[in-house]
Order: sequence, then structure tokens, then C-alpha cells
Amino acid sequence: MNPLFPSILSTNFFNLEAKLREFETSRIDFIHLDVMDGHFVDTISFGPGLARALKEKFRFRLDAHLMVSNPDKAIPHFIKAGVDWLSFHSETCGDTPGLLKMIRDGNCRAGLALNPDTPLEQVRPFLGAVDYILVMSVFPGYGGQKFIASSLERVALLKKEIISQKSHCLLQVDGGINVDNVGPLKEAGADLFVVGTSLFNADNIEETVKRFLNQMPWSQL
Ligand code: DX5
Ligand code: ZN
Repeated sequence: MNPLFPSILSTNFFNLEAKLREFETSRIDFIHLDVMDGHFVDTISFGPGLARALKEKFRFRLDAHLMVSNPDKAIPHFIKAGVDWLSFHSETCGDTPGLLKMIRDGNCRAGLALNPDTPLEQVRPFLGAVDYILVMSVFPGYGGQKFIASSLERVALLKKEIISQKSHCLLQVDGGINVDNVGPLKEAGADLFVVGTSLFNADNIEETVKRFLNQMPWSQL
């Protein structure tokens, strides 16, 4: 599995198809969908209709990141649209186990996301129950933000906890990732990397994907 998950949030939708064709030739496996409801975050992005259209047209697997206040309402629609992975924010609800079960019952991989200022303790109890943890390295809502440097330490601490709990969950990082910080993030213990602006704005996507992967030669996922 290619550990780079391009986020389409920052792209111009009029040339989305051309960009995705480039990702196909660059052997990208997953596309990250930043779903925003204008309530959990100020901005509104797109819904399950885009996920369905992507599934019908491309071979990618889809990783939907739900930045929504009512994930219980959104999850069934994204499962029906055919997404493969679904994460929701630990800050949004009381019934985390119930939502993880809902996602898994829909034959999707289940992830729990946490904002840069959310204590790691909030997700500690669920490390054995999730397929991945999404560590935000920017505050959610927009692409193109600056990477929050303290995220490196959070990744390292969380990785230690994952290992000590003998969990198999993967560690995904999301926000402000570029070719300079992807290597240190991998070193700190991150497995998967959501990349928006520094991939979609690249002149040559195929070359840029190679540059990212060269920063983490040992990625064997
Ligand atoms: C922010 C989104 C991120 C972001 C990543 O709310 O969750 O996925 O779009 O894009 P860049 O790489 O531009 O920060
Ligand atoms: Zn995201």
C-alpha cells in the first residue's frame, strides 16, 4: 500500500479528473476525502456523491475523513457510497465504540481522528479497537496550512503507546506535510501521510510522489 494519501480538498475541481489520472500513473492507492459540514469546522466541502462518482470512475480506495458534528448521521451515507476507510473526530461524540462498530459492520476500516490540541489520552482507550488513528498536524478546516511542529512529538508518544498496547493500528498524519517533514514523521513512527497542497500544486505529480517516497525508503506497508 502506498503510504501517501493525496487529499483532494485543495484542488480545482475543474481539473480534478486530470490530476487523479496522474495519481493513477504514480501508483497512488488511496485518495483522502476531507468531508466538512460547516459546523464541526467553518467550511463546507463535499458529500457522499463525490465519493460515489470517484468510485465509479477510478480504481482508488477512498479514505473519508469526517470533520462533521454528527458522524452517526454521515457514516451510513459514505458506507453506501462505497468508501473503504472512514475516520471521525474523537472530539465529536460520546459513543465512539458504537461508531467504530457501525463503520466495521459496513465492511470499512475504522479510524479515530484527533485535533492538534486534543490530549492523546482521549484516544488511548481505543488503540486496540481502531484500524488507524488520524493525528491532525494542522487545525482542521483548510488545506495549505503550516505543519504544527509539535505533531512530531505527539506521533512519537502515540507510537510508543500503540507498541506498548500491542495494537496493530496504523498511524496516519494529516496537514501541512511536505517532502521536508515526511521523513522525520516516518522516523517518529507515522505510517500513512495525507498530503494535499504539496502534491496537488506540484508541477510534476509523478516526480513529487517519487521525492516523497525517497524520504522514507523503508516504507513497506
Ligand atoms: C485539513 C484536512 C487536511 C488537509 C491536508 O482539514 O484534513 O487533509 O487538507 O492538506 P494540506 O496538505 O494542504 O495541509
Ligand atoms: Zn483530512
